[in-house]
Amino acid sequence: MIELSPSILENRVTTGRFDPSATLDSTSIRELVRLATQAPSAFHLQNWSFTAVHSDAAKQQLMDLSYGQRQVRDAAVTFIVAGHVCAYESLAERLQPSVDSGIIDAATQQTWVDMATGSHEGNVALQRDEAIRSASLATMSLIVAARERGLDTGVLGGFDAAAVCKAFALSADAIPVMLVTVGRAAAGNWPQKIRRPVDEVLRFV
Ligand SMILES: Cc1cc2nc3c(=O)[nH]c(=O)nc-3n(C[C@H](O)[C@H](O)[C@H](O)COP(=O)(O)O)c2cc1C
Repeated sequence: MIELSPSILENRVTTGRFDPSATLDSTSIRELVRLATQAPSAFHLQNWSFTAVHSDAAKQQLMDLSYGQRQVRDAAVTFIVAGHVCAYESLAERLQPSVDSGIIDAATQQTWVDMATGSHEGNVALQRDEAIRSASLATMSLIVAARERGLDTGVLGGFDAAAVCKAFALSADAIPVMLVTVGRAAAGNWPQKIRRPVDEVLRFV
């Protein structure tokens, strides 16, 4: 029987109050995004992008588009995590490094491109679902990566998506899915809230 080791997920909370004096350099931000992109995605589409909102002026602007939620400004960085539609069009290139490394063969690459094109082309709902799935997985990976390195995080869905796209020049195929705040918590945050009992959400079949 496999034994479970301790989890960092139990000491993650949605941080509402950040220490505004704590900063992160661009090397650390890049490393967090590198780790976030270890998330899986359908056909290895990797249909995500991360906008690191880092300067004081940009964080203030994003806070204003997030209904004044101050954590967006006070965190060291707030990421706009987006999922992208039309990603199947770039799939061959995105799989090429795995072909070149001998991880998958060219026939598998072609099969996946054909399957993704067949299911995604003209299917706006599936493209959107896939964009949101991928961005959500990347969001959680980003949160775990930050937590593993002793950083505090929060996640926000409360923002004006259309205005964020415009203000931060997201590409036309981008859907901003979540904001992720990363920094150092200040005093006064809630502890992790109580979860529904496992027996209520788990069933064995
Ligand atoms: C999709 C999504 C949207 C959320 N939007 C916001 C938000 O706009 N503002 C906020 O303060 N928290 C937001 N949260 C955080 C939730 O309120 C939080 O995860 C929940 O209360 C559980 O708290 P805990 O993770 O600290 O235990 C959001 C979480 C998710 C997953």
